Amino acid sequence: MPEGVTKARLTAIRYAAHETSLYEFSRLDGLVWPAAEPGAHVDLHLPNGMMRQYSLVHAGPALETYTVGIRRDRASRGGSVYVHDHLRVGAQIDLGGPRNNFPLAEDAAHSILIAGGIGITPVMCMIERLEKLGRDWHLYYSCRSRAETAFLKPLQAMGGARATFNFDEENGGKFLDLPAIAAAAPKGAHFYCCGPTPMLKAYEAATAVLPREQVHIEYFTAAEAAATEGGYTVELRRSKREFAVPAGKTILEVLREGGVEVTSSCEEGVCGACETTVISGKPDHRDMILTAGERAANKTMMICCSGCASERLVLDL
Ligand code: FES
Repeated sequence: MPEGVTKARLTAIRYAAHETSLYEFSRLDGLVWPAAEPGAHVDLHLPNGMMRQYSLVHAGPALETYTVGIRRDRASRGGSVYVHDHLRVGAQIDLGGPRNNFPLAEDAAHSILIAGGIGITPVMCMIERLEKLGRDWHLYYSCRSRAETAFLKPLQAMGGARATFNFDEENGGKFLDLPAIAAAAPKGAHFYCCGPTPMLKAYEAATAVLPREQVHIEYFTAAEAAATEGGYTVELRRSKREFAVPAGKTILEVLREGGVEVTSSCEEGVCGACETTVISGKPDHRDMILTAGERAANKTMMICCSGCASERLVLDL
């Protein structure tokens, strides 16, 4: 079993909204799960060989179950459709993580949370935590229709004036006025965006008016194409091996073909599972995890999608 992976059993499936369900997993060994922070996700190693990441709905130090919210997305690469159509209570799977690329700044005086569709799952977890801490927050939540809105009732009950909903069907398809929301953010507010591609607009609007370190985004899919230009050599210092990376391949693909075992998960630069220490060389970063400062430092890189802008790249593998 790969490192960091635990045998789990699906112990409950609960309806959350049209085509969205909550899946609860318990450990097979009967122990509680490791501590999980708001914003964290886990890897589900599905019985059909797929591996997918889903955000946790609840965080805490010793949870009996990890719960993820999954929308059946026909346009996706097939993970969510498999879960909805084939995974039944009692099924055993391997579960990896938790890993957190979307941490909550718990000491922020005010948090503005923007969720689109199923992007509500990590945001719900953050709200739960902010409520416990007694912090100020406001949620802007956009969905196609009320029927497709997970957690609608609890959020309406809990949020009151702190939750603003947008239903495309009732609003002529008009999305939330993100620049206006960002511009009205109180000083020192932290801004969180999670959901499908329109969230990029929220991110751009927020970074235009707030310091970068106060804006947080969780991507569902890569915004940049993987670097497959090739034409460089990768040296694995610890393994004492080297590989020529040809055009059309990622570093991860070349290493895998060479029989090198490397941890990976999303394989599109959004989860952080393949983060690798760089000893020398100039990575061509294409991931959605590293900050601008981390990219410039070139200490680590995501080898599933990033390439190399120098002739040689030396990795700590
Ligand atoms: S495997 Fe997810 S970032 Fe590389």
